[in-house]
Amino acid sequence: MIQARDHVYSTPSILAAAFADYLVQYISVRAWVHIALSGGSTPKLLFAMLSEVYKDKINWSKVHLYWGDERCVPPYDDQSNYKMTKELLIDHVDIPEYNIHRVNGSIDPHIAVQEYRTLLEKNLRSVNTIPVFDMVILGMGEDGHTASIFPHEMHILTSDNLCEVATHPTTGQQRISLTGRFINAALERHFLVAGANKAAVIKEIKGQEGHYEAYPASYIQDVDWWMDYAAAGIAQS
Ligand code: 6PG
Repeated sequence: MIQARDHVYSTPSILAAAFADYLVQYISVRAWVHIALSGGSTPKLLFAMLSEVYKDKINWSKVHLYWGDERCVPPYDDQSNYKMTKELLIDHVDIPEYNIHRVNGSIDPHIAVQEYRTLLEKNLRSVNTIPVFDMVILGMGEDGHTASIFPHEMHILTSDNLCEVATHPTTGQQRISLTGRFINAALERHFLVAGANKAAVIKEIKGQEGHYEAYPASYIQDVDWWMDYAAAGIAQS
């Protein structure tokens, strides 16, 4: 069932182009924007499209980039969300280096959390004493995780901190993740999800049925869902 805040497109490429169009318009009417990006594979198409097709349609000096989560690895590691974004987007657009605000994945995770929190408090404007992003772009895993808030660490959803150390449930990899409370404080939240492997969880979350309460993504509020047909459970003709 398609709902009011759903944006559904037939393929991942058309989905990426539609979201890029939205970003162009969103950025054009603002003096500056502080955006937290998701990692993983889904945003790769968006980043590549922004670099190749939309690069001259955005005033990148207005754009400040952050990450909703980062793996605790060096910035040159293939696991790094920053590295992926740098290779697909940052290196191809005229965004000033001082507009890139990555999580330091090379140091003790608990120190990295403090460093990132200090950066966020310094850079973001506050609403009701909470620093707020203008926009948070999120992915969702097959287990319903979002950012690096996994089902076995639901406490990160309600933590009073801006970010926490998280642990991947199967690899044990440590990560730095924004907390659910801080994600929900942002001025806009967008899920960018593609692929049939996500459809069942999305259906449970949006319908508040099945195991939806076990999925961290279901606790993210007031969301725009950007999906391809496969993730939206729409049969392709
Ligand atoms: C990460 C992401 C994570 C991702 C989901 C979906 O660091 O891996 O931030 O939350 O968005 O795991 O990943 P895919 O886009 O690869 O399906």
